[in-house]
Amino acid sequence: MIGRSVSDLVGRTPLLELPLRISGSRLFLKLEKFNPGQSMKDRMARSMLDDAERSGRLAPGGTIVESSSGNTATGLAMLAAERQYRLIAVVDRHASAEKLRTIRAYGAEVRLVETDLGDGRVGTAAREALAHEIAATTPGAVYLNQPDNPANASGYADTLAAELASELPAIDLLVGAVGTGGSLSGTARGLRARMPGMRVVGVEPVGSIIFGGAGGSYYQSGTGTPEGVAIGQNVDFAVIDQGVKVGDREAFATARFLARQNGILIGGSGGGVLYAALEAITASGAPTTIAIVADGGEKYLDTIFDDEWLRARGLLDPTNDAVLGARVARYREQE
Ligand SMILES: Cc1ncc(COP(=O)(O)O)c(C=O)c1O
Repeated sequence: MIGRSVSDLVGRTPLLELPLRISGSRLFLKLEKFNPGQSMKDRMARSMLDDAERSGRLAPGGTIVESSSGNTATGLAMLAAERQYRLIAVVDRHASAEKLRTIRAYGAEVRLVETDLGDGRVGTAAREALAHEIAATTPGAVYLNQPDNPANASGYADTLAAELASELPAIDLLVGAVGTGGSLSGTARGLRARMPGMRVVGVEPVGSIIFGGAGGSYYQSGTGTPEGVAIGQNVDFAVIDQGVKVGDREAFATARFLARQNGILIGGSGGGVLYAALEAITASGAPTTIAIVADGGEKYLDTIFDDEWLRARGLLDPTNDAVLGARVARYREQE
């Protein structure tokens, strides 16, 4: 296709079918890293900007403010450059250095929130408070507020769901990470009418509080909601049939396994989603499963693909990796 702007290049990402050993079941990864900003968040960034422009909240030359773990800010920075808006991205130390460099490369401003929380604690509450304050004190600024903005979820219902429906006649199981909830809820809502029997499984890190349980630290970036932060309105519990938790070790080992066995780099939340999808397929025997993989491992070369980084956090465990490898290897075709 020929795009006339980078906005036109958002979406139409490929599916990769993994060679499953579980007979009668097929698993497709929706590889969202093939968006121009290299994550699925380009879809909602475009949708939220279009909506703000349509409603008149955002006028030419205006300022956008958003709190982000990095991917939303990257999508917004890219589209703000295309449309010549000023973007102030409020991030915390959880955002990888690579993501921050990318946001700055598009000419956006980065405000780093410092918290006294531990290394594995996400500073979402502090980020959201600062973004709100900056928007309130900057004339003409719009705070997009992704957790509660309906244009976040509708950005996926209109594009990701439509793509999946055109690619596959039936989907029995849809698995995706849940942070703001926009991607999974929106995709599920967009597909439900066409595929009423489809089961939807939401995945969050152990330590995130969306599906209950105790809060705690986690390193899976961009996904989940930490303790003390309100669950966003884009988490639609009416369309998510089951919520599961995956630990950092399982999520990262799965992403690393996939890189070495299949030659595809996925991010940590994608590792968690793939792990949960394999568990759910094994339990249910679902014939056709989609795992939404939010972004690529290229964004995490300094973290989850770095042995020293993992070791320093107690996340590199060869015994666990061997056990896990054997479990994950279920999807590899018999030699
Ligand atoms: C890498 C990654 N995974 C998962 C998510 C969660 O997606 P959502 O906010 O649509 O629930 C995000 C959101 O920022 C993300 O960046």
